[in-house]
Amino acid sequence: YVIGLDLGTSGLKGLLVNKSGEIITTVTSEYPLITPQKGYSEQEPEAWYIAAKQTLEKIIKEVPDVTSQLEGISFSGQMHSLVLLDKRGDVIRNAILWNDVRTTKQCHRITNELGEKLIDISKNKALEGFTLPKMLWVQEHEPENWAKVSTFLLPKDYLGYRLTGNMQMEYSDAAGTLLLDIEKKEWSPEILKTFQIDPKICPPLVESTAQIGFLNEELKEQFQFEQDIPIFAGGADNPSAAVGAGIVRPHQAMASIGTSGVFLTYEEDKEKDYEGHLHFFNHVIPNAHYSMGVTLAAGNSLNWFKDQFAKEETFNDLLKDINQIPVGSEGLIFTPYISGERTPYTDSKIRGSFLGIDISHTRTHFARAVLEGITFSLRDSQELMKKYTDKKFSQIVSVGGGAKNQDWLQMQADIFNTPVITLETEQGPGMGAAMIAAVGAGWYPNFKACSDIFVNYTNEFLPIAENVEKYNQIYEVYREVYPSIKEISH
Ligand code: XUL
Repeated sequence: YVIGLDLGTSGLKGLLVNKSGEIITTVTSEYPLITPQKGYSEQEPEAWYIAAKQTLEKIIKEVPDVTSQLEGISFSGQMHSLVLLDKRGDVIRNAILWNDVRTTKQCHRITNELGEKLIDISKNKALEGFTLPKMLWVQEHEPENWAKVSTFLLPKDYLGYRLTGNMQMEYSDAAGTLLLDIEKKEWSPEILKTFQIDPKICPPLVESTAQIGFLNEELKEQFQFEQDIPIFAGGADNPSAAVGAGIVRPHQAMASIGTSGVFLTYEEDKEKDYEGHLHFFNHVIPNAHYSMGVTLAAGNSLNWFKDQFAKEETFNDLLKDINQIPVGSEGLIFTPYISGERTPYTDSKIRGSFLGIDISHTRTHFARAVLEGITFSLRDSQELMKKYTDKKFSQIVSVGGGAKNQDWLQMQADIFNTPVITLETEQGPGMGAAMIAAVGAGWYPNFKACSDIFVNYTNEFLPIAENVEKYNQIYEVYREVYPSIKEISH
C-alpha cells in the first residue's frame, strides 16, 4: 500500500491505495478556519498534524494489515499558506492561509519594487494569496514575530517535518511563494535581498518524489508499524490533482469546477512566458511545469444563483431542463465576476452581469447562461494558453461539480472545442499524493507509467461542430463584456 494525505483548507483526506491503483479506503478529519477579522483566514498547523494522526489511525483501524504492508506516505497540500517556525522548530503564529486577503498593500509594494523582474524570475504576478506578501505583512505588523523566524514552510512541508523531523520544501509548492526562480529552481537571491529576507530561513528544496525521511520513532511505535515507513515530499494541491486526473502530457488539460474553477495544462517548456496572465509553476513531475488560470466564482456562481432563485430545490431540479434551451441561452449572457476576477484580468473590483434579458426568458435560460458564463471564463484561460504558444488540446479531463452534469459536460466539449472526459472515480489531489508515494517508492519509473495504471476514465463528450460554431460567435461577444462593464463596476 501507499497513503496519500491531502491537507486541504477544511480538512485532511487520507487515501489508502494498493499497487494496482485501487482505492482501499478514504477517510477525512476536519479542522476549523480561524477568521480573526474580515478578510483574514488562518489555521493552527498543530490541527493539521492532529488530523494526520487521526487519519492514519482511522486507516489502520479499517485495514489492519497496513501496519505490515505500507510502503510509503506522501502529501498534497493547500498552496501558499505561510507557516513560520522559530529556532526550536516551534510554530510562531497561526498559519496565514492562501485565501486570506489582508495583503493588498504588500502586493503593490512587491510589484513596484521588483518591476519586470517579478515576472522574469517568479513568472507570476503578486497576488494576495501568495506567500511573499504574507511574509511582508508579518515583517510590518508583527516585527516581534518576524524576529523569531528561523524557517518558513508551507502546509504539507510542515506536515512532512512533523512526521519525519526534517525540514525542506518541495518545488511545486515553493513555486507559489514568489521567492523561487522558477527556471533555475533555486531561491531568488534578488527577491530575497529586495525584501530583506534572510536566505537562511528558506528551507532546502527537494523534488516531490524525494524521500525526506522515515516516519519518526514515536509515531512508528504508536501505530505499531512493523517496518520503517518512507515519507516522500509530496506536492501542491493543484498539480497533484492534475497528476491524479492523469494530466501528464502537454496536449492534456484539466477543467476543475469547484467553488472556484481551474483550467490547468502540463507544460514542458520552462522558458514559457505568459507575462503573468496565467500562473506558471514548477510541477510535481520532476523538471516539468504547469500553467493555470483561475475563475474565482465558478461553482460559486451557480451556488449563488441556486440560493437566490431555487433555494428549496436541488441542483438536479434547477438544471434538469437546460438541454431544452438552445446553445447560447437565446441571447442571454452571464459573466461570473460576482466576487471579482482572477484570469485573465486580475481585477478584484469587477462584478458580474446578465446581458440580453428578453421577456421570453425563463429561470432555466438563466441557469443555462450561468453554466455557459462559467465555462466561457475558463475558456479565457485556455485561449491564453493557445495564444502564447502553438499548444493544441486533444483531451480535457473535467473534474469537480462541472463533471456531475451530462449537459454541462457536453457544453464544456463544445465551448472548449475539445473532447472532454471524466474520471471513473474522482479523488482529487489525494490521488496525486498517493501517486507521488507510488513513484517515490519505486513502484513505477515515472508518473506516466503510474497514471496508466492508477487513472481510469469513463464518459467522453465530443464537440458537436454546429454548437462549437455558435459558441465561438457568442464567446466573441462574451469577451467584449469585461471591457464594457469595467467602468461601471469600478
Ligand atoms: C492556487 C490556490 C488554491 C489553493 C487551494 O493558487 O491558491 O487553489 O491551492 O488549496
